[in-house]
Amino acid sequence: MTATTTHADTPVAERLAQRVGVRQAIDALVREVESASSEITGVRGPIDGRRIEYDRLLAETAQARGRGLFYPYLGSGLGRGALVELADGSVKYDMISGIGVHFFGHSEPELVGIAAEAALGDTVMQGNLQMNADATRFAQTLLEEASKASGLAHAFLTNSGAMANESALKVCFQKRAPACRVIAFRDCFMGRTWTLSQIGDSPAGRVGLPLNTLVDYMPFYDEAAARRLGAGDRSGTANYIDICVEYLGQCLDRYPDQHACFVFELIQGEGGFRTAPREFFVELMTVCRDRGVPVWVDEIQTFGRTDRMFCFDALGLGEYVDVCTVGKMSQVCACLYTQEMNPKPGLLSGTFIGSTVGLRVGRRIIERLRDGGYYGPDGSNARHFEAFAGRVRALKEKHPEWFPPAPGVVDVVAGRGGMMRFTPFGGEKDKIVALCRTLFDEGVITFFCGHGPHHVRMLPPLGVLREQEWGPVFEIVQRALARCAG
Ligand SMILES: Cc1ncc(COP(=O)(O)O)c(C=O)c1O
Repeated sequence: MTATTTHADTPVAERLAQRVGVRQAIDALVREVESASSEITGVRGPIDGRRIEYDRLLAETAQARGRGLFYPYLGSGLGRGALVELADGSVKYDMISGIGVHFFGHSEPELVGIAAEAALGDTVMQGNLQMNADATRFAQTLLEEASKASGLAHAFLTNSGAMANESALKVCFQKRAPACRVIAFRDCFMGRTWTLSQIGDSPAGRVGLPLNTLVDYMPFYDEAAARRLGAGDRSGTANYIDICVEYLGQCLDRYPDQHACFVFELIQGEGGFRTAPREFFVELMTVCRDRGVPVWVDEIQTFGRTDRMFCFDALGLGEYVDVCTVGKMSQVCACLYTQEMNPKPGLLSGTFIGSTVGLRVGRRIIERLRDGGYYGPDGSNARHFEAFAGRVRALKEKHPEWFPPAPGVVDVVAGRGGMMRFTPFGGEKDKIVALCRTLFDEGVITFFCGHGPHHVRMLPPLGVLREQEWGPVFEIVQRALARCAG
């Protein structure tokens, strides 16, 4: 650089971000969005004149995808908190948030502002060869939280949960080479790649696919089965855990040194929002540790939603964790691992890390999760769960006929924090799916989970949901249940 090419001592991009004109323009944009969004005040039906056009749009969508959507949902691009506007002008409560992605709901002003600022970046996407410091800052913010209660030290960022899981698999296989088997829980879900479809315990997810992945399945914790096992002084839970530990030992003995990892979903997501006591995991993870099998926790659905940012922390399991994958509400997904599991160069890479908007918004989301009072026994995640559970129990009290026993289900409500499920109609699949569709029609978006019995599941946007909004949501739930029961 010659003496004549003087310029300020900060990069141009930093000065651009600080320009008064830029700040004012972003503030003005956010105010416009807020003002438009304030017109969205509650559930409403479609605008009359938009029905035909909306139906045409849905038909075009089905044509382009080769199949129709599960729900007739095409968002307009605007919402307000937990309320979302569809392209036909209707407004619904979004209690599933893109299957757990939009924890801060729709058109959240601060995140809109950060996204607008990120949109001024030089590139839409960032990658592993050329990234901006956004990727570093995202990874550091995530690692700072993860490392508070575990030995997780590094993060490889990916643009889907499935890619985070594929990365975790490779890390484990490489560490344990030539081990070729994976241990997973019955009813687990891991993502949609060919390999993950083979590990995930859903036959429909691998129809027509050749199988080349070796998986040993362990039973997940089953409260109903555990209760049947209680005998004398010994609790059913302790006996159930003993059986599982013995079974795990058999698996490991059958294929000595051939297991690359045991993948744990600490709360089963697609499998039915099933939880397990801490001791169940401690015992199994201890066996893994003693036998040199890496413990991988798949937190793609649990991340951010339970009593701590990481569910392994909520359950006090951090010391056992070798690999952890996160996604969904983090916007950018990640495979985290300890220093010991850090793979050799060449194993992990890829064109994309994620979008600049995703990285910046995702980082801010992690900070807000950290600082927003979500966690602990009195945190807002736990309070929302209690509000949800109380409403379901009140409905059951009023209408026990809607809640006949479901096989193997010990409580009509289950889950933890922002993972909520309830089980009407005996958990019969057809009835649960029909209820979800009726709920959608009435103005509450949910989804189902479980492999039989089935349940109605909610992953609500707890970052923006107000506790008093459970009232209007459950008025609709009651109406939909009445419609389906009748
Ligand atoms: C536990 C778990 N693992 C992996 C995935 C896959 O994530 P993605 O759909 O982002 O690929 C999911 C998605 O639902 C999940 O719940």
